[in-house]
Amino acid sequence: MKRQIEIVPSILSADLTRLGEQVRAAVEGGADRIQVDVMDGHFVPNLTFGPGVVAAVRSVTDLPIEAHLMVERPDLFIQSFARAGATVIIVQVSSLYRTVTRIKDLNVKAAVALNPATSVEAVREIAPYIDMVNVMTVEPGFGGQAFIPSSPMKIRRLREVAPDVEIEVDGGIDPETVPLVVAAGATVLVAGSAVYGHKQGVAAAIKALRDAANTASAGTRT
Ligand code: DX5
Repeated sequence: MKRQIEIVPSILSADLTRLGEQVRAAVEGGADRIQVDVMDGHFVPNLTFGPGVVAAVRSVTDLPIEAHLMVERPDLFIQSFARAGATVIIVQVSSLYRTVTRIKDLNVKAAVALNPATSVEAVREIAPYIDMVNVMTVEPGFGGQAFIPSSPMKIRRLREVAPDVEIEVDGGIDPETVPLVVAAGATVLVAGSAVYGHKQGVAAAIKALRDAANTASAGTRT
């Protein structure tokens, strides 16, 4: 099945003093979804956003919103993020079956995130119940980190283990790394600093990512 490339700005790197403007800039720049990174200071050594921020983003766009829950107890927060307007809830590989089915019961798409050190085998059993796998291409917790070079091989292994899920990559994604991950089979590309740190602005950043992806995916079966 040929999947469309999707560009997903992560607001972790946005100027939070003007979040609405930054989200609108992404929407006007052609983004396909918006990602909100939720960190609890325990699962990762950083503290970020709650459901209120998802609601704020939802108030300025109809685009799909991904709530990426890098938290110890995702079960405690699934309902509040669904109510706030999340379209996809991404949980880290831990207590999965119950969590994933609860997400689906809320009519929200369910996704699982794999930390760099977590094997793709971790999703083999749950794959029939989820919509997407998020392959963390950096150690989660901060924007602006370097892309982990072994990630494309991991994406290819994931495609064997879970042939029908959407594959998202997250961390260190820019016009240089996009061809590597798209050629390996990823179609959903999360980018923070490459979007909100681009000298020519958000729209130019999204265009650069999409052009790099389209060049790479031309002739690549995904
Ligand atoms: C990191 C977050 C990523 C991050 C990506 O834990 O999950 O979404 O915002 O930022 P860049 O694209 O700057 O690596």
